Amino acid sequence: MFAKINSSYLYGISGVGVEVECDVSSYGLPSFSIVGLGDNAIKESKDRVKSALKNLDHHYFNHPITINLAPADMKKDGSHFDLPIAISILKAVGVIEKDTDEFLIIGELSLDGKLRGVSGVLSMVEYAIINGIKKIILPFDNMAEAALVPEAEVYGFHELADVIGFLRGDIEKSPYISDKEADILNNDLYDADFRDVRGQFQARRAAEVSACGMHNFIMIGSPGSGKTMIARRIPSILPPMTLQESLECTKIHSVAGLIKDSGSLIKKRPFISPHHTSSNIAIIGGGSKASPGNVSLASGGILFLDEMLEFSRSVLEVLRQPMEDRFVTIARAGKTVTYPAKFMLIGAMNPCPCGYLGDNRKACTCSQNMIERYRAKLSGPMLDRIDLISRVEAVDYKDLMDIKEGEPSEVIRQRVIEAHEIQANRFKNENILYNSEMNESMVRKYCHLDSDAEKTLEVIMNKYNISARSYSKILKTSRTIADMAHSNDITKSHILEAFQMKLPDSAI
Ligand SMILES: Nc1ncnc2c1ncn2[C@@H]1O[C@H](COP(=O)(O)OP(=O)(O)OP(=O)(O)O)[C@@H](O)[C@H]1O
Ligand SMILES: [Mg+2]
Ligand SMILES: [Zn+2]
Repeated sequence: MFAKINSSYLYGISGVGVEVECDVSSYGLPSFSIVGLGDNAIKESKDRVKSALKNLDHHYFNHPITINLAPADMKKDGSHFDLPIAISILKAVGVIEKDTDEFLIIGELSLDGKLRGVSGVLSMVEYAIINGIKKIILPFDNMAEAALVPEAEVYGFHELADVIGFLRGDIEKSPYISDKEADILNNDLYDADFRDVRGQFQARRAAEVSACGMHNFIMIGSPGSGKTMIARRIPSILPPMTLQESLECTKIHSVAGLIKDSGSLIKKRPFISPHHTSSNIAIIGGGSKASPGNVSLASGGILFLDEMLEFSRSVLEVLRQPMEDRFVTIARAGKTVTYPAKFMLIGAMNPCPCGYLGDNRKACTCSQNMIERYRAKLSGPMLDRIDLISRVEAVDYKDLMDIKEGEPSEVIRQRVIEAHEIQANRFKNENILYNSEMNESMVRKYCHLDSDAEKTLEVIMNKYNISARSYSKILKTSRTIADMAHSNDITKSHILEAFQMKLPDSAI
């Protein structure tokens, strides 16, 4: 009496196939063993499956029952195997006779046989569809989310009893049809608009350049100057997410158990703003479940480090790898998982500990020593990954209302979209999308300077003792500024503007 049920588990953000095999012997002492599940998960799962089945008057535990979650050599965690385990037992003892090969089954059981929603459903259903398994049985709470996967025929249930009835043919049920269109081109998603930011020409321009080339960007300014306000509005000037981006973003949030409104794709670019007391694990990911961290939740959008220098040095250090690689690998006992980390880093900081250095409203009270120690935290290697730095000068509050509203996000976004298209076209044979991602040889290939620009750059290099890293950053930023002006060549004015946005490291 052997049975097999298709299920899946999460590896990073990908679903992987698992076969739940069950053998119920007619002879032998009662036993119930599960092979292939992580140690902690086994006991809990056994208790839930046993109790749920007994509550429905299914008493098979006086026989030896062996469950194997194949491949067994990879210890899996996840309570979502409860339902396929229970169904495999019922199939092995003949309560369910139907051929279940065309089904993927996932779901957690409560002790009284109710089905509880689980995380990571989107990825697991995607796995099933890719592998030709079209019918999905899962908890009602996950039904709408699963139905986002094209071609999935989704059956959602509240109770184990109903799943049994359905598979025995006692209950008729049609698959759930999603009534939500994946209208990801809906632009009016953001409640914060650049229109609200008055004045601040320089910082707004820097924000636009950073969005156009997906350059990491830091704002330095005194308290109340509008840094946080500007950062929050950057997602609204980025192009709408593509369906692919939207699905990936939703998968990451689903894996992290953060999908509240099941059944909706995430259409807004994420804006993740961790507190400065956050741990390395919170930022990078990890923990007992190797969960995605802030860098992955921000993938496709913005990771905003407000009060950047208040973060621990080790957090700033661990950010370097994902910023370079655009993905993050988390090692945990027995497995390593990789999550996307395609975020744009936006930082905000005060110029000094008291916050008022360079402010014309209030005098700075910090000693030179304090200022140096404060800035030393932003280590060279971190700064190396920041292309743009902008001073944000506070606008006097009483003047604010006299300045007219800023340009709306919608208008800026159109320009950003054009700049992205130019880059997509330029890099169609490269493995990148944006100017900020160019390596040294691409910088040489794609950043052509006219003769005036070349001379200007040489003068700047000599005068300001620019490092090789800063040199290529100025070129990348100028490339973006030239793209924004629809210019093939980089001209003197593009170089000058890029240089202004990359203050020498000592001057921040
Ligand atoms: N240029 C501006 N246009 C409109 N409102 C502004 C502007 N600058 C500041 N404000 C107002 O001041 C408030 C404070 O700005 P914000 O919190 O962004 O400052 P901050 O630079 O992040 O300060 P802190 O260093 O204290 O974090 C904003 O919520 C907004 O109401
Ligand atoms: Mg702030
Ligand atoms: Zn100060």
